[in-house]
Amino acid sequence: MQIKNDLILRAARGEATERTPVWLMRQAGRILPEYREIRNKLKDFITLAKTPELAAEVTLQPVDILGVDAAIIFSDILVVPEAMGLPYIMVEKKGPYFPQSIQSEKDVELLRVADPEEHLGYVLEAIKITKKSLDNRVPLIGFAGAPWTIFSYMVEGAGSKTFSKAKKMLYTHPAMAHQILEMITETTSRYLQAQIKAGADMVQVFDSWAGILSPKQYEEFSLRYIEKICNAITEVPVTVFAKGAYFALPSIGKLNCETVGLDWNMPIAQMREIVGPDKTLQGNLDPCALYGSFDEIKRETKAMIDAFGKHRHIANLGHGVYPDTDPEKVKCFIETVKEYSVR
Ligand code: CP3
Repeated sequence: MQIKNDLILRAARGEATERTPVWLMRQAGRILPEYREIRNKLKDFITLAKTPELAAEVTLQPVDILGVDAAIIFSDILVVPEAMGLPYIMVEKKGPYFPQSIQSEKDVELLRVADPEEHLGYVLEAIKITKKSLDNRVPLIGFAGAPWTIFSYMVEGAGSKTFSKAKKMLYTHPAMAHQILEMITETTSRYLQAQIKAGADMVQVFDSWAGILSPKQYEEFSLRYIEKICNAITEVPVTVFAKGAYFALPSIGKLNCETVGLDWNMPIAQMREIVGPDKTLQGNLDPCALYGSFDEIKRETKAMIDAFGKHRHIANLGHGVYPDTDPEKVKCFIETVKEYSVR
């Protein structure tokens, strides 16, 4: 079945496109009143994520309301630790919390390599329903956290500015860290393959905490596992987004992936030089730019399009859209990309 608007898939594969495609990380949920209406009727975020019909509905909202060129399945990266044996709670206005975190060898015994069909069937079901409702209008993006980022939450037990407990384990118990990272990697490869089988047209790996590791640690504890995941996915384009890891771009540029995500700290021309011509770049407007006036947003967005050029670029923000962003400002960003980038 042919997808009507397949700009993102073509851009990812390096084919010519009539204009630059655009979507936003974290576009599902957060900013739309239509999302909050559904969300407020339910007990919590996890209930919404585990109700496939509703997860599919909020996945479609940004496509219908904002006009983005792709949908991203409504879920969270933390469904993976839960599937491996560590349940989490999403504390309102604070973020994730794991009542049981990984501190010792004894805790590692609690973990299993998850079976996606058995332990993450609700995400796969949401993907199938979304694909039906999307009716091939735009591609559907599946996703997972990178092993290092997932490990960080499993060891830290919650969000953190430093993730010093997680980093401590790399220095004090590196073998145990590798054992856990292996299990996460195996689970994640299987999970992404299952998402593709269920209908995901492209997948993104989020390494949100890449930037807190030293270059040497990043190679050892993150990149080699991302590499395994990239090598395990052959059917659809893969995007690797390693936030803050500009130092690792030369290695990321050599991964078996089609697209590399850039955050807003990364100078576009320099990063293109490092990554080379054979990858598509995704990003990278500062999410805070959307707090500016409509005129400023147009100016910044055009400057971003000019800097990336009109080939091998997927327009996005440099990180997820912030919850207090005015949806009209988001629309302004999307419309500007669509109008200004026409070839
Ligand atoms: O992109 C999308 O719109 C799809 C859905 C999606 C969510 N989380 C839904 C969500 C995606 C792709 C994520 C990824 C995610 N989750 C990341 C990687 C991207 C990034 O931002 O770096 C991370 C680190 C998480 C972990 C997480 N989930 C945190 C720290 C929090 C709390 C704070 C916050 O960001 O909102 C969440 C909760 C969460 N995940 C919400 C949503 C819509 C808000 C909860 C709610 O609606 O009650």
